[in-house]
Amino acid sequence: MTSMQSGGDAKPDPRRVQIVGLGYVGLPLAVLFAEQGFIVAGVDVDERKIGFLKQGKSYVKDLTDEALQNALTSGSLVPTSLFDDSARAGTIILCVPTPLTDRSTPDMSYLHAAVTETGKRLCPGQLIVLESSTYPGTTSEEMVPILERESGLKAGIDFNVGYSPERIDPGNTKFSVRDIPKVVSGLTPACLRRTESLYAQAFGQTVRVSSPEVAEMTKLLENTYRLINISFMNEMAMLCDEMGIDLWEAIDAAKTKSFGYAAFYPGPGVGGHCIPVDPLYLQWRASQFGRESAFIELAERQNRTMADYLMRKTQGMLKDGLRHVLIYGVAYKKDVGDIRESAAVQLIERLMEEGIHFAYHDPIVPFIRIRNREISSSELSDDLLREADCIFIMADHTGMPVQRIVSNARFIVDTRNATSGIKVGHIYRFGSGNIGLGQKNPLA
Ligand SMILES: NC(=O)c1ccc[n+]([C@@H]2O[C@H](COP(=O)([O-])OP(=O)(O)OC[C@H]3O[C@@H](n4cnc5c(N)ncnc54)[C@H](O)[C@@H]3O)[C@@H](O)[C@H]2O)c1
Repeated sequence: MTSMQSGGDAKPDPRRVQIVGLGYVGLPLAVLFAEQGFIVAGVDVDERKIGFLKQGKSYVKDLTDEALQNALTSGSLVPTSLFDDSARAGTIILCVPTPLTDRSTPDMSYLHAAVTETGKRLCPGQLIVLESSTYPGTTSEEMVPILERESGLKAGIDFNVGYSPERIDPGNTKFSVRDIPKVVSGLTPACLRRTESLYAQAFGQTVRVSSPEVAEMTKLLENTYRLINISFMNEMAMLCDEMGIDLWEAIDAAKTKSFGYAAFYPGPGVGGHCIPVDPLYLQWRASQFGRESAFIELAERQNRTMADYLMRKTQGMLKDGLRHVLIYGVAYKKDVGDIRESAAVQLIERLMEEGIHFAYHDPIVPFIRIRNREISSSELSDDLLREADCIFIMADHTGMPVQRIVSNARFIVDTRNATSGIKVGHIYRFGSGNIGLGQKNPLA
């Protein structure tokens, strides 16, 4: 095949980037590159999303309409559902989903589809970077063979390949995409240099590692560490409830140690597209080497059963059990609109199975679809708060009217420590050790 220098008809432009997959990861990344002076073609197969973007409407909470509109009006960002223009891009970055199949194994179908489309149009001299979270070996063993097969070109000779994991924390306003150090890797030393050079133009700091496998492992390590530690805190919360000890207070004290301790907190279960999913990618990869991680196994099982645990615990605390439930916050965590793998959704599924009446309020999630049923967020009136036997606080979004909820609720299960410091008898604050106070609010 042709060498990189010989080129073809198309001439990729190093200042042009194509980003494939405009979701929570790809869209902010596209705007960031646009803000740094690149011309960005944003490609997504979801025509509805492209329609919103063309109207200047951001569907990712951490990205303002204003930032999006600036990128659009300056001509730096062009959203499209077509891959057609990819020959002009010096770099193509893939940010497509990497979920699990029904059997909890890696679902690589989105990645395969996007890589195949990219491979068909691949031009000599281009850099292809994968950002999706995935198991070690994906870039070299899954992506490269498809690119080579579809293009007839040779990776590392005719085109460059890199892997750079996305590390955003949705809802966290303390760290912008640009401020999070960018781990970069390449198939060859030249691929690494080129990948690093690209990201250094858009990010504050790059961190180079020696291979795509190390970079892929870095991402899985970070998220597996979080799953295991949060699951451990949930186990400690269950224990502290039995022992009558406030775990939240113990964590606050423990984190004053200036070395050797990183604070994690209990909650209703870990959700989102990453932390509950990525460790299972690692577990699947381990199985190919005849190994398994007992830590992942335990943490995953514990996480999967959290919603059920909280529901059973509450049923045991209330004399009449659960008959009418209100859920505050269905997103998987504070200040995000994402309900993927959300513990609140799992709780709703349990309530549905048991025929328990429920409603939800979430200021960021106007409606949800569960088991072919569309459910809308109810307005948070005092009547709504009073009607419920029990209010589960599952996501403590900024602005949550805690005092109003406490005053009107008959009983509260607070999984987020949102009612910390409020000393009344009708709150079960998960992990606070106040399990004996399971009595209803006489005023509500
Ligand atoms: N959401 C997070 O907080 C986060 C953080 C770090 C890493 N990640 C990882 O980044 C990747 C993307 O996650 P996300 O949350 O942005 O997902 P997402 O579902 O929000 O966005 C993915 C987008 O890709 C589009 N898409 C799917 N197949 C496509 C194709 N063949 N061609 C073009 N577009 C296609 C979808 O329509 C969707 O808009 C995943 O691997 C995820 O694990 C996510």
